[in-house]
This record gives sequence, structure tokens and C-alpha cells, in this order.
Amino acid sequence: MVKVTVCGAAGGIGQPLSLLLKLNPKIDELSLFDVVNVPGVGADLSHICSNSSTSSHLPSSREDKSALAESLKGSDLVIIPAGVPRKPGMTRDDLFNINASIVRDLAQGIAENAPKAFVLIISNPVNSTVPIVAETLKKNGVYNPQRLFGVTTLDIVRANTFISQKYAKETKATDFNINVIGGHSGETIVPLYSIGNSKSYYDKLSEEDKKALINRVQFGGDEVVKAKDGAGSATLSMAYAGYKLAESILKALTSKGEEVVECTFLNLDDSIKGAAEAKKLVKNLDFFSLPVRLGANGIEEVKYDILNNISADEKKLLEVAIEQLSGNIDKGVAFIKK
Ligand code: NAD
Ligand code: LMR
Repeated sequence: MVKVTVCGAAGGIGQPLSLLLKLNPKIDELSLFDVVNVPGVGADLSHICSNSSTSSHLPSSREDKSALAESLKGSDLVIIPAGVPRKPGMTRDDLFNINASIVRDLAQGIAENAPKAFVLIISNPVNSTVPIVAETLKKNGVYNPQRLFGVTTLDIVRANTFISQKYAKETKATDFNINVIGGHSGETIVPLYSIGNSKSYYDKLSEEDKKALINRVQFGGDEVVKAKDGAGSATLSMAYAGYKLAESILKALTSKGEEVVECTFLNLDDSIKGAAEAKKLVKNLDFFSLPVRLGANGIEEVKYDILNNISADEKKLLEVAIEQLSGNIDKGVAFIKK
């Protein structure tokens, strides 16, 4: 029996993400939590004739913790797209003041009610909210770094789409699976077009086009924020991306020999195979997005070797990313430790 809980299920991401999860035959119970509108979303989804049952959980007041507890109890996987999105002119870090405490409180609920769940964090700023969850779980003595995932999949989705648009006659977005490493905001996002089948296409671009392509991946979120003109940020593409990571984690749970690899923003904790090696290559940062091998325990191995194979230009991008990430991570850790 697989139970998946979405916290923030009535939101712009939460609703389409829940719809996709509702269609996954590996999921038996879909549990929806939000502080508004969730009974309606749950009633609507519950009419779909798929494999899973649906439950919705709405707190009766700000003090009511039972709805969250009920939604989380017995969860194998929890996805968090709760919190506020950006408006034009804002950075993801500008969301910290509101989203940090939302994510902390949800993490506390997970520690108390679903301490063994795989936890996927979508709420921004991801570079800080993931350390917040790690510190909260640590404080409660239930932290397992193999089970915590910062969702950076949208950056990979964009990297694949944007290079294919440059070669629309010869390629499709599904031809690519670009590794995007670092973090999830602006220059902390480092797409590695020089590795794998994208290399030959990337190499053919002019220096100016290469820069523009990298910049488009790094600031792809702004494109959507601008187009939505005050009505939020990416929701549909994010729901797809969040679903893709969740689907891979569920697939890896029962995979018989097939290697499942995804990029995720993870805690480079010594207990994870390859994490210590990775950490040395990123100036001792505690969190970083890298490709990881997934398995029954979550993150089984960090594929750090990719860092030894990047181009000179990508090394420069990496330097900038590392510099910026350090402050973002410290801010998240300090929020809980203070
Ligand atoms: P939204 O405002 O449409 O939805 C957020 C939902 O969270 C709302 O339904 C709200 O009621 C709910 N919520 C607020 N506080 C809550 C709490 N304490 N517990 C449970 N639910 C709560 O926003 P959205 O567009 O869905 O974006 C959500 C978050 O995802 C934002 O922080 C956004 O920046 C982030 N995001 C991340 C990525 C990524 O790549 N990681 C991509 C897009 C958006
Ligand atoms: C994205 O990359 O689309 C998200 O992080 C949302 C945002 O604020 O841009």
C-alpha cells in the first residue's frame, strides 16, 4: 500500500500535481492537505476512476494540528508545494520570510506523523527550504538524508525543452536528459550541456547563443512570472516536473535492476555513497543538486563524477553557483538553529 500526501494541494501546483498523482497506478491512497479549499479539490479528484482513494484534510483553525496529522499518518511520500509564489520583480529569496515558517511547520508535522516518508520540497526558496526541513527533522531525531529531495526537476525539463527549440527540425525535447546541478535560483542553476547527447548540438551554437541558452535556463522561472503578470509563477510545468521526480522515486522502490537516476538538491551527508566525494568538489557545501541513483532507500548514491567531466565554461558557472548557494543554505540552517 502506497500513500502519498500533497501539502498545499489546493494551490496552483498542488491541483495539477494531485491530478497526475491520482492517475499513477502505484499509488493506493492520495491524501490532500491545504489550509483553504481542499475539500472541493478532494471531492473533485475522488470521482476519477483510478487506482487510488482520495482524502482531503482542512484544519478547522490555525491551532488545529489534527488535520495535518491525519493527512500525514502512514505516508510513504510527502510532496510540499505549500506557500506563496513570486510576483514580477521579486526573487525567490524574497519568499523566505513567509515560506520558511510554513515549510518548518509542515516538516514538524512530518517528523511527528510520517518520519520515514520520502519528502519532496517544491516551496521556494528551495536552496533554503530544504536545509530548513533537514534541520527540523534532525531536531526531532528522525532525519534520514537519503529521504529528503529538493525538487529541481523543472530546471532539467526547461534545459531539455530550450535546447530542442534551437534544433526544432532535428530534435524533440524528449531526446534530451540534461543534467542541471547546483541549486534552484538564477545563477545557482548550472545546466551541463557539455555532457551527453546535447554536447554536439551545444557545441555548434555561437558563443552568444550558448550564453543566451544558459541564461534562459537559469532565469526560465522569470519568463513565466512575467507572462503571468502578478498571478503567480510556474504551476503546470512544475506539476509535471514534481510528478516526474515522484514517479521515479516510486519506480525505484520496486525496480528490478533498472537504474533510476534523477537530479535533486540533496544533503551531501557522509552516510550517502559518493556524497563525501561530491562535497569536496563543491567547496564543502552541505547541500547541492546532482544526479543521484534512486533505490528502495531513496538516494542510494551521488553521481559525483560528473563534476570531474565538466567544461571550463561550466566550471566558471559552478564557482558562481557555489558562492551564492553557501549564503542560501546558511540562511535556512540558521532559521531553525536560532
Ligand atoms: P499557490 O499560492 O497557487 O498555492 C500554494 C498553496 O499553498 C495554496 O493553496 C495555499 O493555501 C497553500 N498553503 C499556504 N500555507 C499553507 C500551509 N501552512 N499548509 C498547507 N498549505 C498551505 O502557489 P503555487 O504557484 O502552487 O506555488 C507554491 C510554491 O512553489 C511557491 O513557493 C513557489 O515559489 C514554488 N515553486 C517552486 C518551483 C520549483 O521548481 N521548485 C516551481 C514553481 C513554484
Ligand atoms: C520556477 O523556477 O519556475 C519556480 O522556482 C518559480 C519561480 O519563482 O520562478
